[in-house]
Parts: sequence; structure tokens; C-alpha cells
Amino acid sequence: MPVRAESKSLGVLAVYMRMPYRFSPPEIELLTSFASQAAIAVERVQMLEKNTVDAANYERLHQVSKTVASSLELKQALDNITTAALEISGGDVASIMLLDAESQELTIAAARGLADEVVRSTRVKVGEGVAGWVVEHGQSLLFQDGIVDRRLQESPYRKGHFTDYLRTFLASDEKRFTAGMTGGQSPIWAVSAPLAMKGKTFGVLNVHAMGPRRRFSEADLRLVEGLASQAAIALENSRLYERVQSLFVETLAALASTLETKDPYTKGHSERVRDLSVGIARHMALPDDQVNVLRSAALLHDLGKIGVDDAVLHKNGILTHEEKAQMQLHPAASGKILEYVDFLPDAARLAGAHHEWYDGSGYPNGLAGEHIPLGARILMVADAYEAMTSDRPYRVKMEPQEAIAAIKRYAGTQFDPKVVEALVSFLSGSETPEEHPAGVASKFVGTPPRIS
Ligand SMILES: [Fe+2]
Repeated sequence: MPVRAESKSLGVLAVYMRMPYRFSPPEIELLTSFASQAAIAVERVQMLEKNTVDAANYERLHQVSKTVASSLELKQALDNITTAALEISGGDVASIMLLDAESQELTIAAARGLADEVVRSTRVKVGEGVAGWVVEHGQSLLFQDGIVDRRLQESPYRKGHFTDYLRTFLASDEKRFTAGMTGGQSPIWAVSAPLAMKGKTFGVLNVHAMGPRRRFSEADLRLVEGLASQAAIALENSRLYERVQSLFVETLAALASTLETKDPYTKGHSERVRDLSVGIARHMALPDDQVNVLRSAALLHDLGKIGVDDAVLHKNGILTHEEKAQMQLHPAASGKILEYVDFLPDAARLAGAHHEWYDGSGYPNGLAGEHIPLGARILMVADAYEAMTSDRPYRVKMEPQEAIAAIKRYAGTQFDPKVVEALVSFLSGSETPEEHPAGVASKFVGTPPRIS
């Protein structure tokens, strides 16, 4: 007799007796009652299992939302989301694609289960393939390889495109791909949900499952949509945080440039030091994050001069012992100001050490060689070159080749020789000395260059 719960068949209850025994009507009634009790028990257990899975999934979703809310590291947040997408859905491949506003192309920002080469090389135009469709329409999709979503069939989209799309994703694992595409025995299931905020779609979260063991349902789609919202929040947080950071740096840079405009000799100095520092850093193949820190540090390295008397700052002549001592407080003061900005601790270290000499005879701490942060050693060279090639109240500017010769002379004492090499290489690649207007002959002879 059937084990049924409402209209759903759950199984069969079979009882066998040797002939010629015949079941009596009360026995049949009793067994029917057993079958319906079994159905209730099975259904309860199934519901309990489902609720346990749902609760675990929602708990995981909640955990992800907590880590996203507290994480300012975008890459880490997106990695967490792709990991959670696989855990929750039981899928094999998860990827987050982000839209480049200029090229209108999607590239993969985070992925699980894909080869690095696929992650690096995948590019999908808006409107193309599944991800392109999801971004274009701002709607999510749930589909199987053989059953392309109805909405896609209505668009100029065909099964062939779907196969190409999967091939792009699964090229890293041709065997699994082939298995997934043959005979319908191992169907490929996929869900794709848009990353959207304030009505704007700027990415897609894709999850694929291969093989018969996992089929996606509407519930999976809802969970993936939940994770896609978390990814959108992470992106928005990171964009806002970057905006706050750059506003802060811009405010401090405006302050630094106000300081410079008081002195016609140093006007634009920080911007030029920033450009030189970045050029040297790129020649030394510093990673992007270090170049960004150096960019802020270079722009703000002399901020501490705010505490130096104008009379000392603009003095046309040799500084007295006391004036020199006052002037020498400025790197530490720059560092102190930048320390208050919580996202600029590394920039604070660089600005605070931009007058340290390679041989240890600089200030404020007399650090030497590798003990001086590399960014500060770069700043020192860029600052010196910029100061030497600009007029100062106490001397006229040098021509570039003179300044380079002077800097080379102090490689190993004041300057890091490797940084000097990078400066020379950067300048010879970006501009030739002939391009500079002829300078007035330098008064620089044999003493270390004064750069502040
Ligand atoms: Fe300085």
C-alpha cells in the first residue's frame, strides 16, 4: 500500500504472507493506518532535515553579511562570498564578475573552482551570454544546460551561446565539462544573480553545479541572490571608503598646497615630488599598494612645516642653529599629523623618515640603509632632485644634468644608490635634459644639497 502524505507519494509499505493466507479487512485497515503513520513520520523527518539545512544556510548567509559589514578589504569580502556560495549551494564553481563602466565588459573579480588563466582572461560584454544578460536586465536566472531559461530563449540568445558561455567557464576542466554536456546524465545547473545597488547593476554572482548529485532550486536562487546583495554592499562600502580616503587626502593636500603658495619658491613642490616618486617607484617595480601609499606620503611629506615659523621657512640665507633645529622638526610633525588618519599609517612612516640619510646621518632618528623604509628613501631622492631643479631664495636652480651629477655624488651617503639609479633611468626614459629650459649655472659646489 502507498505511503502518501497529502497528494505526494513517499513510498510503499509491503507485507508478505505465505499462501493461502489472505489479509482480512481489519488487517488491511490496520496496515493502511501504519502506512499513513509512516508517511507522517517520513514527512516530519524530511521537514526537519530541510529546516535544519535552511537554518544552516541562513546562518551562513548571516555570517557572511556580518563579515562583509566589518570588512574594508574588498577582495577578502568577495572571496568570502564566493566560498559561501559554494558551501550553501553545493555547487562546483562560483564567480563574481564586475562591470567596467568604460569598456562595458565584465571581468572576474573573485572565483572558486576556476583556473587562474580563466579568471584572468575572461571578458564578457553587456548583453552577451548569461552574465551579460543578467547585468543588462538586472534579473537573476536559474537554469540547466538542456533547459535554457525561457527569458533567454525569448532574447536573441540560443543554446549555442549557453554552451560557449559554459565552455569559457569550464575550459579549465575539460573532462568535467564534457561529462556535464553528454547525454544529460550529468547536467550542469547554474544560477546567476545581479549585483545591484540603487537601481544600478554593476556585476554578477554566478554559481554552477555539475553532475547529477546537485540540482539547483528556487531556494538556491534566493540564497545566491542574498549573497549577490552582500557582494553589492561590499562594493558600495569599499567605494565609499575609498571616496572618504581620497577626500581626506585631498583636504590635507589642499592644506599642504596652501602652505606652499605662501612661498613662491616651493609652489607646486609636493605635486612634482609626488610625480617623481611615483615614477621612481614604478621603475623599481614596487607593487601598486606601495605606490599608492608613496603617492599620498609624497603629496603630504612637508605638511609638518605648518609648525615652522614663516621667517625660518622663507629665510634667504643660512639658518642659525636654532632655526635649523626648528626646521628639522618638520618630518616628525608630518608623520604625527598623518598618524591621526587611520588609513595612512604607512604614509605617516614614509613622511616621518624623508630626511633620513642612507649612511645614518640624517634626522630625526638617524636611521640607516634598509632601516629607512624604501618609500622614504625614494622620497628623499625625489625631494632633493625637485628642490635642486627649482629656484630657492638661497640659490638659483640647477640644470637637470647638474642635479643628477650632484645626487650621484651623494649616492651611498645621503641617497640609496639603487634609488638614484632608478631616478636616472626614470628621467632618461620620460624626459631628456635638453627638454628643460636652460637653467642658470648652479652655485652648488661640493656640499650636500639642502632640500628644505
Ligand atoms: Fe622636507
